[in-house]
Amino acid sequence: MNTPQQGIFVEGNRYLHVLEYSVQSTVSPGRLGQAVAAGRKCKAQVVFAFGPQMWAQVAHDKMPSGFTDFQPLNGPKMKAPATQRDIMVWIHSAEHDDVLDAVLAIDAILSQETQRELDIPGFVYQDSRDLTGFIDGSANPKDDEAKREAALVPDGRPGAGGAIVFSQKWNHNLPKFNALPVTDQERVIGRTKEDSIELEGDAQPSDSHVSRTDLKVDGIAQKMYRRSFPYGTAGEHGLYFLAFACEQSRFETVLASMWGMDDSAITDHLLNFSTPVTGSYWFTPCEEDLDIVLV
Ligand code: HEM
Repeated sequence: MNTPQQGIFVEGNRYLHVLEYSVQSTVSPGRLGQAVAAGRKCKAQVVFAFGPQMWAQVAHDKMPSGFTDFQPLNGPKMKAPATQRDIMVWIHSAEHDDVLDAVLAIDAILSQETQRELDIPGFVYQDSRDLTGFIDGSANPKDDEAKREAALVPDGRPGAGGAIVFSQKWNHNLPKFNALPVTDQERVIGRTKEDSIELEGDAQPSDSHVSRTDLKVDGIAQKMYRRSFPYGTAGEHGLYFLAFACEQSRFETVLASMWGMDDSAITDHLLNFSTPVTGSYWFTPCEEDLDIVLV
């Protein structure tokens, strides 16, 4: 198996940052190579990912099957914008200064030929909770093999050892969510607030977030490996949703279910309390394929 970018699977770092760039026409391979080389020298974990057009320019023969731009979602009740960009850099570390060192080193190179579109510091809130107070990540695959199976393009396929990534910045309306009694909040998510215990049977609403996202297709659980993180200021705060999967169709299936664009036409109740403002698909190549940009 090829070597996945290590930072995908390193957990527990409390300081995070994401940078997204768009490219006007093209970015010179030398510039990308400098950025990757700089990232590899950083103390922080640095994960590079590319939008479909960018990655096709770099390594057309390593395009994962079905890897295409994110399209806007048009559900019966809710919409979501697509802001497909070209380069994403996800940085995390136990130390805030190591994160900022990496952000500055990489941005100094990339911003010479690209437009910086998104630049958000994030953090771990309490014991890995979303700002709504609910633990985020409970149903993530637990052991290393299950994580890799959910996240990585399997051996023998183009892009093997890399991962398809979906990212979406969400703005929360916390006053609206916090005005609900806790039992109603739990029915929005589908788990208890304190201990993240899944609601069972009739207690689990069909429009809860868990009901809309815990899916099987032809008997196969649509597992993904979520690494989302909270961000925020007084004026704007929420979740940078970030997840890795072996195939893009898993995201498409889950998003269609959340937006009521499947046969059920049921919209995820969470969409009444938080609003996505970006959305992109990315491919994060394995280290061996990332080496292509170094030459
Ligand atoms: C504001 C945005 C979001 C928030 C606050 C949020 C929060 C949560 C929480 C609290 C849980 C339950 C605990 C857990 O298993 O982690 C959960 C589960 C989950 N979420 Fe989200 N989520 C958001 C958006 C999304 C999006 C956009 C997707 C997919 C594209 C997604 C996919 C999932 C999946 C697959 C599960 C696990 C379901 C299961 O197997 O039980 N979430 N999320």
